Amino acid sequence: MKKLLIIAHTPSVNTEALASGLLEGTRHPDIAGVESELRSPFDCDAEKILQQDALILFTTENFGYMSGALKDFFERIYYPCLEAENSNEGKPFALVIRAGLDGTGTDIAVHKIINGLKWREVQPTLLCHGEHQAEFIEQCRGLGMAMAAGLENEIF
Ligand SMILES: Cc1cc2nc3c(=O)[nH]c(=O)nc-3n(C[C@H](O)[C@H](O)[C@H](O)COP(=O)(O)O)c2cc1C
Repeated sequence: MKKLLIIAHTPSVNTEALASGLLEGTRHPDIAGVESELRSPFDCDAEKILQQDALILFTTENFGYMSGALKDFFERIYYPCLEAENSNEGKPFALVIRAGLDGTGTDIAVHKIINGLKWREVQPTLLCHGEHQAEFIEQCRGLGMAMAAGLENEIF
């Protein structure tokens, strides 16, 4: 089984629904070869990341930047991941941002860190922007499914 981890900061009912959408998508009944899990950034360490075949990062935008939870995660895993070259380099990932107003600052900041980490982006950033909409949940399901299907079919 391939391992897919969703690292999600979910400070509201709406963001919990988006993270659940991601998880549901990764567990689509047609996808058999992928084992997915949803965790808070606070419950992830470098060892956990290095065991994964792919990652989905989900954060709100707060004060024009990624959530403190995701930043704390990156600060803890950055050097241990880089030191474990073989299990780290080229790790496939996708980013989902939930922003009430903008989202740009978060997109840029996460990509700067990811460039340093040498991970590989396999889906464009999904930006759920503005007032909460049911459509965001569908978009998250779609991204989760695309990630799991890509992993199962060894597209990345
Ligand atoms: C302290 C704080 C700072 C925020 N700063 C931003 C911001 O800079 N840009 C933005 O687009 N949204 C900002 N937001 C809005 C959050 O992104 C939004 O509350 C979050 O995505 C949850 O959305 P929801 O209403 O769908 O639950 C902020 C929210 C909080 C609580």
